[in-house]
Amino acid sequence: MRHLLSAADLTRAEAIEILDTAETMAQTQSREIKKLPPLRGMTVVNLFFEDSTRTRISFEAAAKRLSADVINFSAKGSSVSKGESLKDTAQTLAAMGADAVVIRHPASGAPHRLATAGWIDTPVINAGDGMHQHPTQALLDAFTMRRRRHGAATTGTDLAGARVVIVGDVLHSRVARSNVDLLATLGADVVLVAPPTLLPVGAEVWPCALSYDLDATIAEHTPDAIMMLRVQRERMSSAGGGFFPSPMEYSRRYGLDGARLRALPDHAIVMHPGPMNRGLEISAQAADSARSTVVEQVSNGVAVRMAVLYLLLAGGRSSERNAQ
Ligand code: CP
Repeated sequence: MRHLLSAADLTRAEAIEILDTAETMAQTQSREIKKLPPLRGMTVVNLFFEDSTRTRISFEAAAKRLSADVINFSAKGSSVSKGESLKDTAQTLAAMGADAVVIRHPASGAPHRLATAGWIDTPVINAGDGMHQHPTQALLDAFTMRRRRHGAATTGTDLAGARVVIVGDVLHSRVARSNVDLLATLGADVVLVAPPTLLPVGAEVWPCALSYDLDATIAEHTPDAIMMLRVQRERMSSAGGGFFPSPMEYSRRYGLDGARLRALPDHAIVMHPGPMNRGLEISAQAADSARSTVVEQVSNGVAVRMAVLYLLLAGGRSSERNAQ
C-alpha cells in the first residue's frame, strides 16, 4: 500500500492489518509516556482545504505520537486565496521536506490527483474529499465496532455478520460511502436508511440494502450498530434545501430520538462521525446515552491514524533498510 485514497481499495487482509496495528497503537496510548519513535526525523504535512476538527487534530496527534514533525496547512489564510493551485501548493510544501501528505479537499478526486499526477513523490492519505471518500473515518468506525464486538480478542477478526444500519444524508456523505465499502469487505450486513431525496442515484448497486423506513429497519434488522449521519446543511442551498420538508419533519422520520433508542437491541451501539446536529439527526438523549460511542470513535481515530501513518511511512523505511 503506497497511498490510502479510498476504503474501496483495501483488501480484507490490508484492512485487518491496519485494525490490528491500531490495536497495538491503542494499547501504547494508555501509558504515561505516549510517544513512540518510528517516524523520528520524518515530516507529515496536513493539507486542509476544508474545515475539520477531529480529523486534522487526530492526524496531528497521531503523527506527533510517532515522533514525526507536523506542518499544518489550512487553505484559509494561505495563498490559495490568491489563486494558487493544488499542484503549486503541494509542490511548495513538498519542497519543505514532506514525507507524507494528508489531504482534505472539497473536490472529490483531489487526493487521487495528488497521488497520481507526479507532482509530488510521497504517500498521500485522503482525509475526506468532497462527497467521495473518508477512509480513515471508516477504519476508525470499524475499529470501534470490532472492539465492542470482540472485546480484547480483536486481533485478526473481521465484522462478518455484524448488522449495521446507517441513517440519514447518504447523498452528501463520504462517511457513508467509505463505510459501505469497508464494511462489505469485512463481511458486515449493512442497511442504508434515508429519504429518497437523500439517497444517491446508483446506490442500488452498492454492497448493502436500502430502506426509506427507519422504524421498520430497526425492527427487522435488529442492528448491532446504528450510525447516524450528519445532515450536511452546508451542501444544501437552504435549511432542508428541498431535500426534506422541514428539520422537524426530518427528525420525526429519520432522527434518533428516545423512542427509537429504546427500540434498539440492548447491546446496540449508537455511532456518529461528528460533528453532530443535536436535535436534528440525533437527540441529546441518544448522543449522551451510555450506548453512544461518539467520544470513543474520536479517541480510536488517533490509534487508527497512527497505524496508517506507521504502515505507510515506517513500512517504507524498513524496506529501504532491507534493500541496503
Ligand atoms: N468526522 C469528521 O471528519 O470530523 P471533522 O470534519 O471534524 O474532521
